[in-house]
Amino acid sequence: MSASDNEPREIDAHSGQATTGHEWDGVKELDTPLPRWWLYIFYATIVAAVIYWVLMPAWPLVNGYTKGVLNYSDRRIVMENVGALETARAADYARLRDASFDDIIADQSLQEFALAAGEAAFGDNCATCHGAGGAGAPGYPSLADNVWIWGGTLADIEHTITVGVRSGHPQARFSQMPAFGRDGLLAPRQIADVTEYVLSLSEARRRAAPDAAAAARGAIVYAEQCAICHGANAAGDRAQGAPSLVDDIWLYGGSREEVRRQIETGRGGVMPNWDRRFDPGLIRALAVYVYAQGGGEPDAPAPASSATETPAGE
Ligand code: HEC
Ligand code: HEC
Repeated sequence: MSASDNEPREIDAHSGQATTGHEWDGVKELDTPLPRWWLYIFYATIVAAVIYWVLMPAWPLVNGYTKGVLNYSDRRIVMENVGALETARAADYARLRDASFDDIIADQSLQEFALAAGEAAFGDNCATCHGAGGAGAPGYPSLADNVWIWGGTLADIEHTITVGVRSGHPQARFSQMPAFGRDGLLAPRQIADVTEYVLSLSEARRRAAPDAAAAARGAIVYAEQCAICHGANAAGDRAQGAPSLVDDIWLYGGSREEVRRQIETGRGGVMPNWDRRFDPGLIRALAVYVYAQGGGEPDAPAPASSATETPAGE
């Protein structure tokens, strides 16, 4: 504080303005008042703030906050919007649940809703195992090709999603390949032979160049031990969840080592059942989405004329 605070201020000769009395090395500070317009805006903001406190939620309190006389709440508005969306969707899900698959395919808007809802739920819940778009990963089958362990009609897919595979659900799909090596059901020599035979069945033979004599011995082992599940022609058996061994599409890998390992250990993957988590309408939407990824199969293996059916898989 300068001693000049209570004394009459010096007037600056140049501008005619009072000075504050502060001086540094002969430079003096003018005491220019704030411009009017600035002051009025400043007062207006104070008034606006007070009005806002009264109308809107503003001050934190020990428990909660001042609600404001308008009782406005962003949270409530979001909840209302979410609720309205859910109500709107509930009707669509109910339509999905009650519609037959033919109805869904015939009804453009219902099909679009199913695909959109299915895609979103797939990304959140299924892609972790099955990959984006159902592309598959070792141990997790591709859902985007037309090779199915359990079946590729809409009804098959819906059932797999509902009950899962080895999921613990009472109606779960279940399969169990024996661990031929670990449990001593086959001698290492027999396993080596049948591995050569399996490799000779598909295009895998181009990579693995299986031993012909061993494969011939392995064919006998196959007929005795494996055909019961994988089929005499090794094309697989969906009723038992046994994959085809002739298509060169592998759940656990198609190298010699990977095939041998599966015969030794008989791994089986777990697919969760989703009936607890999802509304049946959403499960149906997921089935429609998976079906549309490219591998969907028509409902019944109908006679030749079935080629005219709607290509819903596109
Ligand atoms: C924890 C990993 C996991 C998750 C998550 C998962 N799956 Fe699966 N899914 C599997 C496995 C493993 C299999 C193969 C089961 C077998 O070996 O028979 C499978 C099989 C399937 C099949 C049968 C494929 C066929 O060839 O018959 C369908 C359809 C399927 N899943 C759909 C879904 C959908 C839709 C979701 C999301 C709602 C989902 N899965 C989530 C692991 C998973
Ligand atoms: C009781 C039925 C059963 C028998 C018997 C059986 N399998 Fe399997 N096999 C399966 C099932 C089920 C799977 C798929 C496991 C899964 O879904 O995770 C499988 C998978 C495989 C696979 C892996 C396929 C892939 O795509 O990666 C190979 C290879 C295989 N079996 C070979 C054999 C051979 C060789 C024998 C005979 C020595 C045999 N299996 C006997 C049921 C059987």
